[in-house]
Amino acid sequence: MAVMRCSNDFINIIQNYSSHFILGWEELLGGMDLMVDSSAFLNIKRLLPQHQSAITLINTRLQNPSQKNLSWLDLACGKGQIISQLSDNISPNNRKKIKYTGYDINPNYTRIAEKIACNLEFNSYVFTHGDMSNFSKIIQLDNFDFITCTNTVHELMPKVFANLLIDSLIKLSDAGELFIYDMESLEKPELGALPWRGREINELINILLEVAGTNYRVHPNIWNHSTCKGWTVVIQKQYLNISNKNLTNNRDEITTCLDETIEKLLDERLRECEKILKAYQRFGVETAEEEKLKELSLYEFWALHNAKELYR
Ligand SMILES: C[S@@+](CC[C@H](N)C(=O)[O-])C[C@H]1O[C@@H](n2cnc3c(N)ncnc32)[C@H](O)[C@@H]1O
Repeated sequence: MAVMRCSNDFINIIQNYSSHFILGWEELLGGMDLMVDSSAFLNIKRLLPQHQSAITLINTRLQNPSQKNLSWLDLACGKGQIISQLSDNISPNNRKKIKYTGYDINPNYTRIAEKIACNLEFNSYVFTHGDMSNFSKIIQLDNFDFITCTNTVHELMPKVFANLLIDSLIKLSDAGELFIYDMESLEKPELGALPWRGREINELINILLEVAGTNYRVHPNIWNHSTCKGWTVVIQKQYLNISNKNLTNNRDEITTCLDETIEKLLDERLRECEKILKAYQRFGVETAEEEKLKELSLYEFWALHNAKELYR
């Protein structure tokens, strides 16, 4: 193997790095947007674990007899991948409590989602379109009890993701929850896609919480699925103990710290990626696995370069 001729340092990097590129989940790769070359995939017959988790949380809240209705904002709702599973998993009476808002950049996707929503007998539903960078201005409603953003963070520019975190917290009701899931790696790489690692998300979100002035900390789950790795984070507004006014007042400081952290993380990953590519350039690849890793590293290099350019 070519890597056997490299230094121990390099072998360690390769080993760590490879763990982020376990194969799988073709159907999750998608979403035509400003940053990525992809398309969202809907398979109604197959319930994905991240959608299952979100539905379990929603269902638990709906079962509370004093929860008369539940307002749910599904960011980057795509073709309705989450709601496509509700007829089997949330009772008709509880579905009648749901006030659903689907938001996505792509009206062709939400048209499909709307067909699904109209058969679910929700209390109400609405689909709104726009870029994620503007969602908090475009969506006039506030006080959402539940906000989801699944399988999408890798498609967003880092700055947009940082703002999504802050805006979502402001948009939550006092007892609201934010649920985010994404993959750490994609089987079929997408040009420009930047999957974040769970430990990076951990660092980013806890810096946000620290600068916002709360003692509340979250620990994202990192899932070893059979075909890929993913992470979930749930933030519950009730534990923040910060008013929207204070969040808004601290926004500039929070954004600056998030920007600095993102730049640091991008630099670290770029250095790691360059080291791998330089070694492949010098020693070549010998196995199919190394060839795959080289290809993924090239995609990663482009995504990082792109993200850094857009970050300026
Ligand atoms: C892979 S799909 C995920 C769909 C769904 N949430 C799920 O869990 O399967 C990514 C979605 O993000 C949307 N999207 C990508 N970039 C966006 C942006 N900048 N603003 C709004 N939506 C965006 C795409 O249109 C697509 O529907």
